Amino acid sequence: MPLSHSLAKLGGDAPLILPSILMCDFGRIEAEIRRLEDAGVEALHLDVMDGHFVPNLSYGLPLVETFRRLTRLPLDVHLMIANPDQHDYLRRYRDAGADLLTIHAEAVAEPRAVLEQIRSLGVLAGLAINPPTPVSAITNCLTVCDLVLAMSVMPGFGGQSFDRVALDKLAELRRLVRPEVRLEIDGGINAATIADSAAAGAQWFVVGSAIFRSEDYRASVRQLTELATQPRSAMSPRC
Ligand code: DX5
Ligand code: ZN
Repeated sequence: MPLSHSLAKLGGDAPLILPSILMCDFGRIEAEIRRLEDAGVEALHLDVMDGHFVPNLSYGLPLVETFRRLTRLPLDVHLMIANPDQHDYLRRYRDAGADLLTIHAEAVAEPRAVLEQIRSLGVLAGLAINPPTPVSAITNCLTVCDLVLAMSVMPGFGGQSFDRVALDKLAELRRLVRPEVRLEIDGGINAATIADSAAAGAQWFVVGSAIFRSEDYRASVRQLTELATQPRSAMSPRC
């Protein structure tokens, strides 16, 4: 399925920086959204956590609806929740305004069936794998997803250290997926890790602390975009 909706123009090879909505100032959410829009971001990554699949509780449907009401930016919704195919969640998050729904392969028994269900709702379908999960666990899903998210941290918190295991997975995924499938990386993405992530094959980069802990969102987004745009040079020596 081609990238549909407002994400269509984001289907090119240009790197995309997606701010992770977890460490922002929730007391000034509209001002934060305007700062991100002024910084030139083209999509937002909403980190939904249920306190069961991950050891943290963030937010759910009401905040996704609020974001939908406050911005026209595409919403990449990262469902870090157990059993996302239950309680009619997928339709409810679609109706709340999600343009893309990413589920975790570790959270469902049959990820392929859930991805097909997401697509049947007219929403782009993403599949995430945690650092311990090998690409071989999802090879039967690669033809039914629009995005694969290689986690470079265990999900649940911002500000964690980058796990390089995601780089090998990105390179393997790049060889396996169709060109139109987006590869995304999430966790510990900053000036020190983004170039290697791009060289390994990532096109979409979820960034939390490297943006929200900076004084100047625009400068941070610009620097990260430039670093991700470097030619696919050889990756830096393995540290
Ligand atoms: C972690 C979330 C990430 C995280 C990124 O469970 O999925 O999106 O907030 O934050 P940083 O960039 O600080 O690792
Ligand atoms: Zn995320």
